[in-house]
Amino acid sequence: MTAPARSTLFAPATLGPVPLRNRFIRAGTGESMADPAGRIGDEYVALHENLARGGVGLAFTGHIFSHLRGRYGDLQAGLHQDSSIPGFARVTEAVHRRGGRIFAQIAHAGSQSMSFATRPLAPSAVDNVMTGRRVEAATDDEIHEAIDGFRQAARRAVEAGFDGVHLHGANGYLISEFRSPLTNTRDDDWGGTRERRDRFPVEVIRAIRAELPAGMGLTMKVGLADLVDEPGGLTVPDAIEGVRSFVAAGLDGVEVSSNLMSDYVSASIRGYVAVDRRRALEDLLFHRLHKKPEPEAYFLPFVDALRAQVDTTIILVGGMRRVTTMAALVESGRAEFISMARPFIREPDLVQRLAGGQRTAPACVSCNICLMHDEHHALRCWRTPRMNLLRHAKYRFSGGFKGKGSGRKPAAGDR
Ligand SMILES: Cc1cc2nc3c(=O)[nH]c(=O)nc-3n(C[C@H](O)[C@H](O)[C@H](O)COP(=O)(O)O)c2cc1C
Ligand code: SF4
Repeated sequence: MTAPARSTLFAPATLGPVPLRNRFIRAGTGESMADPAGRIGDEYVALHENLARGGVGLAFTGHIFSHLRGRYGDLQAGLHQDSSIPGFARVTEAVHRRGGRIFAQIAHAGSQSMSFATRPLAPSAVDNVMTGRRVEAATDDEIHEAIDGFRQAARRAVEAGFDGVHLHGANGYLISEFRSPLTNTRDDDWGGTRERRDRFPVEVIRAIRAELPAGMGLTMKVGLADLVDEPGGLTVPDAIEGVRSFVAAGLDGVEVSSNLMSDYVSASIRGYVAVDRRRALEDLLFHRLHKKPEPEAYFLPFVDALRAQVDTTIILVGGMRRVTTMAALVESGRAEFISMARPFIREPDLVQRLAGGQRTAPACVSCNICLMHDEHHALRCWRTPRMNLLRHAKYRFSGGFKGKGSGRKPAAGDR
């Protein structure tokens, strides 16, 4: 293997029609920085400018709601209205000035919405496995309105100067709900068979593609299986058939993750990846001193299954930590791009560090405190500076997580 710092990881590459300076992608990571109208400001611009300054080749924004009924949380940014365009135009301008590229991750939260002010949409009236929230089955007109919401959000992403769109089709949100037999029990044109359950994402992809000029990319985060206890969910073979139809509908590449999940931490945002005894001690993780590091690249089995059957560009996310691991995976052709979320929260300049020869795992210990604060506070690492850990403890033990966001499930009647 080539020395990591000189490997293809650091050489220019293209994703669909979009030229990138390297193969490092900042995975979608909810910024929780919007105002009540879903508009973003200086803090959001600075976060993305900083990532581009730190050497990230391409950033996926955190999930941005495409339609008011698809809002996940009250601090989430939206591209559901034209008045959001100027704010995002500042972001794309700042990223381009620093030599980076940026795709808007557009999303619809479905019944996994944690926003109590939102009246969500779902394919069928089934309790959401993560939140317990149940909403009525969408009508045909409402489904078409949701597709049009994605189309219009893509049109606004073009106007804001994004380099592409990254469609959120994983992790339990509306597209995942359409794809899973557990949450889509319809027997009309939108359910009943694998093909009809996948019709919603196929139509969304076609609608977005029709809005994008030739130089813009279109990628998708896809769920390759339901990771829930209940039997009968989306299986890997069915998910792969779906991805084949999504690629045919116009994708330039896919980022592989889970579909429905009982919770984030056991499925897509796993803890303590690559944290050895030394890192545990340095970061005061005493409960990890006698435990083995959790494995890196935890979606690799999904990726290998997909690679064997569908010809597309693959973005590997989920516990990518050591540069030697990343270089080996890219150079052996198992994935084209490496995507990371938590390591870039703690070290926005991580790519520069790796290019400079750093071989140790990043400082992020995957403790998931930042995930607990999603939709409570603006995105940040809560372990550094150390004072942040005290702020976190104060918020936690004073009952802060009982409010909106990940700590509380929307009750029946919260519509
Ligand atoms: C605080 C936080 C917010 C996240 N928000 C999003 C999001 O908006 N969109 C998305 O696709 N994934 C989101 N994720 C998941 C990440 O994109 C990624 O798939 C996951 O964290 C595993 O990658 P990592 O090990 O590099 O962190 C989020 C993760 C964290 C920790
Ligand atoms: S709080 Fe910091 S160390 Fe913990 S997962 Fe988030 S970025 Fe990593």
